[in-house]
This record gives sequence, C-alpha cells and structure tokens, in this order.
Amino acid sequence: MARKKKVKLSAAQQAVFERIELSNEHLFITGKAGTGKSTLLQHLARHTSKQIAICAPTGVAALGVGGQTIHSLLRLPVGVIADHELTQSRDLKKMLAAIELLVIDEISMVSADLMDGIDRALRLARRKPFDPFGGCQIVMFGDPYQLPPVVPRDEHERAYMKDTYRSLWFFDAKVWETAAVSVIELNEVHRQKDGRFKEILSALREGRVTADMAEEINAAGCRPAPATGVITLATTNATVNRINAARLAELPGRTLKARAEITGEFKQHSFPADETLELKVGAQVMFLRNDPDGRWVNGTIGVVSRIAGNVWVEIDHEEHEVEPTVWERFQYTYDAELGKLEREVAAEFEQFPLRLAWAVTIHKSQGHTYDRAIVDLGPRAFSAGQTYVALSRVRSIEGLYLTRPLKPSDVIVDQNVQRFMRTQLSLGD
Ligand SMILES: Nc1ncnc2c1ncn2[C@@H]1O[C@H](COP(=O)(O)OP(=O)(O)OP(=O)(O)O)[C@@H](O)[C@H]1O
Ligand SMILES: [Mg+2]
Repeated sequence: MARKKKVKLSAAQQAVFERIELSNEHLFITGKAGTGKSTLLQHLARHTSKQIAICAPTGVAALGVGGQTIHSLLRLPVGVIADHELTQSRDLKKMLAAIELLVIDEISMVSADLMDGIDRALRLARRKPFDPFGGCQIVMFGDPYQLPPVVPRDEHERAYMKDTYRSLWFFDAKVWETAAVSVIELNEVHRQKDGRFKEILSALREGRVTADMAEEINAAGCRPAPATGVITLATTNATVNRINAARLAELPGRTLKARAEITGEFKQHSFPADETLELKVGAQVMFLRNDPDGRWVNGTIGVVSRIAGNVWVEIDHEEHEVEPTVWERFQYTYDAELGKLEREVAAEFEQFPLRLAWAVTIHKSQGHTYDRAIVDLGPRAFSAGQTYVALSRVRSIEGLYLTRPLKPSDVIVDQNVQRFMRTQLSLGD
C-alpha cells in the first residue's frame, strides 16, 4: 500500500525545478518508473512563479495533476487534427496568450499529430505564427518506455499518420524540426530500494532481460499469493471485471449501490470513479484520491469494514470513515483586468473515492505504487511497456506475485522509443 510521506526533493529534482524556473527552454523530463517525475510536477505546480497551465492527454491523468485535458485547454477538435481549421474565440486567445509555462503530463500518450496541434493552436492564439508554440515554454513529463500513444481507430486516420509521420510518438512531431527540446533524465529510482531488483527492472524496460534475470523474477514471483491485501494487475478490462465481480459475489451481506452526483459537464469516459459504485462489507477497495489528513493516498488498498451511510475502510488494522469526495474539472480563463490566468471549476463529480480493487488493469495502475501485487499477464502481454509498468509498481521483489512465469514474448519494446532515447540521451547533458 502506498503511504503518505512528506517528500523532500532530491538535489537532481531540485536542479530540474530551478532550470524550469530560470529558463525558457522546452524540456522533456523523463526517467524510469519511480524516479519522481510526478512528484516533481506536483512541486512545480505549487511553487512556480510563472503563469502555469497543466494539462494531460486523458481526463483521468489531468484530474490527477489538477489540470485539464489538452483538447479542452486548447479547444482542439477530436480525432486527427492534421491541418483542420482551428476556431478560437477572443477569450480563448487571451487565455492562451497569458500562459508562460505549459506543462504536459503523461506525454508518452500524446501523438505527433496532437503535439503539432498544440503548436499550431498556440501560434494562432498568441499571434506569433513563426515561433514554435507561439513562444510559450513547454515542459513535458513522462517515460516513453511505459504507455504508448493510442493508435487511431479510423483506418483513414491511421493511413494519414503513417504517411505524415515517422512514428505516432510526440517526439516525431514536425514542430521539433524547428524547435529545440532538451531531454533531462532523472536517474535515481525512489520507489524501489533493492539494487538487483532495480537492475532487473531497468533491463526489462529496455528489453535487455537475460535468462538469469527472468529466472530470478520467476523464482521469486511464482508462488501462492495471500488471499487478502494484494491487488491483481491484469492486461484486459474483461479479466479485471471478472475478478472483481466474482470476488464481490462471493461475499455475504447486502450490496451498497452508491450513485455519483454530477454537476456541469463531465464526459462519461473521463469519470474519475464509478458512476454506480457497488460495495459490500469485506470488499477490497483502492483509494482514488489522496486524503488531506494523510490517512491514505491515491492507490492505498483497504477492506470495507462497515457500511452505514458512509463507508468505513480498514487500512493496516485501522478503521477509517470515508466520505464522498468531490472531483473538480478545471478550466483556465484569462482575467484581463488583473492580467492573470485564472483556474476555475467547470464541473464536479461527487462519489466515494473508492473502487473495487481485487484487480485493476495495468493501464490504470500506471503512476501508482503498491507494496504487493499479483501480475496476471494472461496468455501474453500485448502492448509495449506493459510488463515493465506492471512489475515496476511494487516497492520490492518480496511483494511481487506472478500467475505464470514471464516469457521472452512478454517483453515488448517500441523500436521508435529506443531510437529516440538512444540519440537524445547520448547527446544530452
Ligand atoms: N526525492 C524523493 N525522496 C523520496 N521519495 C521520493 C522522492 N521523489 C519521489 N519519491 C517517491 O517515489 C515514489 C515514486 O515517485 P513518483 O510517482 O513521483 O515517480 P514517477 O517517476 O512519476 O513514476 P512513474 O513513472 O511510475 O509514474 C513515490 O512513492 C514518491 O513519493
Ligand atoms: Mg508518475
């Protein structure tokens, strides 16, 4: 389970913070899982002296960092943007012109087309048609060895992307032909302590797993898992839903059906929690938010111990009352009188900050830290970075359980990522 700790930035994280503050460079801040990228982003959001706007490719990722989606911030059309005309109101232009620092989290999920859309929208709004990003500083966070960009569903869109770009990745966007980006790598892994486990995870990330390493992981991981207090990370939604529904049905007692209260416009696919949450006493749940009083963080696992109006959850033998919480979807506006970029609440979603958590998809486990996890790769891992994301969620190898031994085919590394990271990091500092 994740624990709430007051984190002091390392010297390396602090140096990156200062570089962002003191320069106007475009930066890509990367590093292995657990090197503190998200921690640094949160510090930046609180302490920067610049007019900052924070966005992310998905609604869930944006909520996690108190920003909005890239599409809603820049009012970009859905689907492939290509050279479609962008319509911008005067208010939108003013708001975009006021941004000094645009932070994009989970950049690995941003496509080249979207990256170029961001560039074009900023040039237009800021009336600087010849300056990349209209002169705005762009700071991107993410690890391309983890989640890849989503491949367009439409075959014409896929064909357009193939003809236009070397790859789907943000680093192959056209804007980088004229704009310079400096890549900064955070090197110290904070999530894990054990040196050998860190070494194996690094090898897994880059597709360099040796037979010895695979054997060590399998020897440690292939064993019966405890019945409680451990989450399953699976490749598909179908597996996750099946495990959660089956485990909930096994429990005796009544089911609480808690419905979310939604005000304003909240798109269904970006709901931060279940619209109808079903719980029973004994259900294993995961918290979806940090508690302001530090009793749990986003990712903490517990067990429902009592249901009476509110819900009580036991975490490490301690019972806590959990109340519904409000997620706010933010929108940036520009206040011309004050000359300031303001963030206001556009919509609210109220629900218990809980979801059933005998299982979650590896995709949803992205960004989280667990003490113990069962990794279920099903017949095979099917996306680049999937196995690496799953195994790098746990703090130590002692907390890792595998439903079957790792196979060489579970380790998938995107060739484009290797090409980019090799050239960039060898040129870098
Ligand atoms: N300077 C630090 N000192 C101690 N612990 C830290 C520090 N920075 C981060 N951590 C801890 O390390 C863990 C991983 O940090 P974080 O989630 O920020 O990493 P990340 O690079 O965003 O990982 P991922 O790529 O998996 O999203 C967290 O538990 C965090 O509290
Ligand atoms: Mg992170």
